[in-house]
Amino acid sequence: MRATITATSRYLPERVLTNFDLEKMVDTTDEWIRSRTGIETRYLVSEGEATSDMGTHIATQLLDKSGKSPEEIDLILVATSTPDYLVCSTAALIQDKIGAKNAWGFDIAAACTGFIYAMETASKLIESGRYKNAIVIGADTMSSIIDYTDRNTCIIFGDGGGGVLLESSDNQAGIIDSILHTDGSGSKHLNVPAGGSAHPASKDTVDKRMHFVHQDGKTIFKFAVKNMADVSKQILDQNNLTGEDLKLFIPHQANRRIIDAAAKRCGLAENKVLINIHKYGNTTAGTIPIALDEAVETGRLENGDMLLLAAFGGGFTWGSMLISWGDA
Ligand code: UT7
Repeated sequence: MRATITATSRYLPERVLTNFDLEKMVDTTDEWIRSRTGIETRYLVSEGEATSDMGTHIATQLLDKSGKSPEEIDLILVATSTPDYLVCSTAALIQDKIGAKNAWGFDIAAACTGFIYAMETASKLIESGRYKNAIVIGADTMSSIIDYTDRNTCIIFGDGGGGVLLESSDNQAGIIDSILHTDGSGSKHLNVPAGGSAHPASKDTVDKRMHFVHQDGKTIFKFAVKNMADVSKQILDQNNLTGEDLKLFIPHQANRRIIDAAAKRCGLAENKVLINIHKYGNTTAGTIPIALDEAVETGRLENGDMLLLAAFGGGFTWGSMLISWGDA
């Protein structure tokens, strides 16, 4: 038995933040941002809109597209680094908002690799035979943890998310293989220092701007290119495939130059790589499911096509996933 994707969806909030808007906020230029990252615009939530609100839009679309009732859902997994609350999970809030009375679920914190971690977890639970389906969401409200006076980070990130309905399948379609890694020694290079149990919120942590994302961009850049390329090559090799066999490669959208360098190292032609970072920036756990939904909508995937996902993010976390596209 395999777990296969039977519906996809995405949600981007309405408010647009352009490079020209950022020029008025920090010492940067549209030219610098475009040439160093490939980003032109990103979307931000409105006042009061949180990750569970985006997740509810995503889950509702999945129910509509699949024709499933909320009561038929077994599991809800949400990959996010920006949950609504430290206690209770975003999955629980979405479960309540969509009325999925028979589902249980939880959040997965693996930063930009979160969606692949969540897909792996959900697919293994489905393959166990105990659960028939899962709503898997990757969504982040990065604007809630970004310092809009820090030009090193505020130009990169955006809000948004996407998701899939995973169902058990008896045919050959579905998730074929995955490789996942964690290396906690990288945590010092990308983190939000305060707000957790290490540094609970206090006046001091707020004054020191410790509730925002801090990153060493150059170090992350190098690790991201090497690890995303290595883990992509490794999963192709262990399945006796080459870049030629792939229909589409959907990498995490962190920086256009990271994507180009990783694709080049894997020997992948540009027309096989989905790139949408210019529109949305880096939505962390949201980038891959957003791109997947766009790929489906624009007809870039047909039954039997081979799809490769790969991501690298805070933790460090990284991984790849190979999917044979098709219905249950
Ligand atoms: O999903 C994981 C999350 N994070 C990432 O993926 C981040 C990965 N890293 C990156 O994308 C890139 O390292 C950045 C986009 C963050 C930075 O690009 P870079 O080419 O590595 O620039 P840099 O840090 O080497 O900085 C070059 C110069 C510096 O000035 P000096 O020291 O040469 O005078 C920076 O101060 O560019 C300056 N700079 C900026 N200039 C204009 C840094 N940010 C900006 C900016 N606008 N926004």
